[in-house]
Amino acid sequence: MSTKVTTIATILTICSAGAYATAQGHDKGPLPGTHEVVVASGVTGGEVWGANYWPNVTLTGHDNKKYQFFDDLLKDKVVVIDFIYTTCPDACPLETAKLAEVAEVLGEQMGDDVFFYSISIDPKTDSVEVLAEYAKRYRAGKGWTFFTGDEEDIKLIRLKCGLMDLGGQQREDHSLDMLVGNQKTGRWMKQSAFENPYMLATIIGDWLHNYKQPRKNLLSYEKAPALQNMTKGESLFRTRCSACHVFGQGDGLTRQGPNLLGVTDRRERKWLERWLLEPDVMLAEKDPVAIEMFEAFNKVAMPNLRLSQLEISQLLDYMTKQSLVAELADRTASLTSAMQLKPIGSCCAKKSADSSNKQHEPSSGSAKNSDPNAGATASIKSKTAMGTTAMVSIGMGLIGLLTVALRRRN
Ligand code: HEC
Repeated sequence: MSTKVTTIATILTICSAGAYATAQGHDKGPLPGTHEVVVASGVTGGEVWGANYWPNVTLTGHDNKKYQFFDDLLKDKVVVIDFIYTTCPDACPLETAKLAEVAEVLGEQMGDDVFFYSISIDPKTDSVEVLAEYAKRYRAGKGWTFFTGDEEDIKLIRLKCGLMDLGGQQREDHSLDMLVGNQKTGRWMKQSAFENPYMLATIIGDWLHNYKQPRKNLLSYEKAPALQNMTKGESLFRTRCSACHVFGQGDGLTRQGPNLLGVTDRRERKWLERWLLEPDVMLAEKDPVAIEMFEAFNKVAMPNLRLSQLEISQLLDYMTKQSLVAELADRTASLTSAMQLKPIGSCCAKKSADSSNKQHEPSSGSAKNSDPNAGATASIKSKTAMGTTAMVSIGMGLIGLLTVALRRRN
């Protein structure tokens, strides 16, 4: 919810003429997405931040084609722009992995409604070949292009995007923000790579889309679930790690890194502590486990996330507990599907014909995500096999209780 407020607040403020437009937007402007932002008598945001604002410099994509930045890449499009360099040991892999997740959530919209541009800030090193290999490593598909070009041109684009800190000219200082916007309507906003991928996909694929089709069933704010008390470890994991890792079945999105189910059992605590502190150094020193994983995981290196000792121990606590919770959830899910494979007795056969299959698929939707109650509610609604329903509910209830107990203990 708060992101919606942030959206209104951040719309356009990143651009130099932003203050002017924001004042208009706040006073009587429509909700984000309802129609074009009109900043002065008859002038649209798209015209203000149009060909006169954006440089029309030439960039080369990892497909080895040349593009004019404004004409070919921005004009009339909904875009996400971020700046990376392929030898970056920390921030860029996280950013790129997050975009890969968001692209997967956006699915068919990629390359049709939405375009991702990852522009190299080290264009001398990042040739077309290097970028093509990087794109492949992160499984970049339709609608997502990596660009190289002239260093000065790229600096200008960064400046115009509001993503260049004039103080910090060092590559290493580059921000973890990305710019998302709809050129036609002139709505632009900064988003963080730490944001939840589903939230980002909603902002990019939905809010920015001029509401071509008005959305139905908008939920009231009052119905929003109460926020859970999140431990520091969980919050760190969600923002820094979940783009590349899950425990157990997870949410079905592809991740760049290994599944962390049981990792605190399979590795020594000391090894894990050092790994979280300096994975890049361990890889450089050719730690055998690190090398083996690096080869197995498409040569995507685990980034050094500059964690403190305290953060590392909070993360390890969270990972130990989460492994346990995920293992139980996976076991319950397989138990459930095993029971559902059994033929339904004649007493229930008729009823089952009209009940939707969807509820029986453990892999569909909320039953798999981190809210155990969602799965339990779905199972209660099931009209078939009451015994199974009861077992599932008990199983889910147990997981819920365990989660609460573990949280309390923290
Ligand atoms: C950009 C993706 C990415 C991010 C972000 C990331 N990791 Fe990783 N992680 C990997 C990859 C890839 C590997 C496999 C080793 C390699 O290729 O370097 C890995 C390996 C690991 C391992 C070892 C797994 C095993 O089986 O031994 C642990 C533990 C781990 N990561 C924890 C974390 C934690 C905790 C965070 C957040 C603080 C995190 N990772 C953030 C990509 C990532």
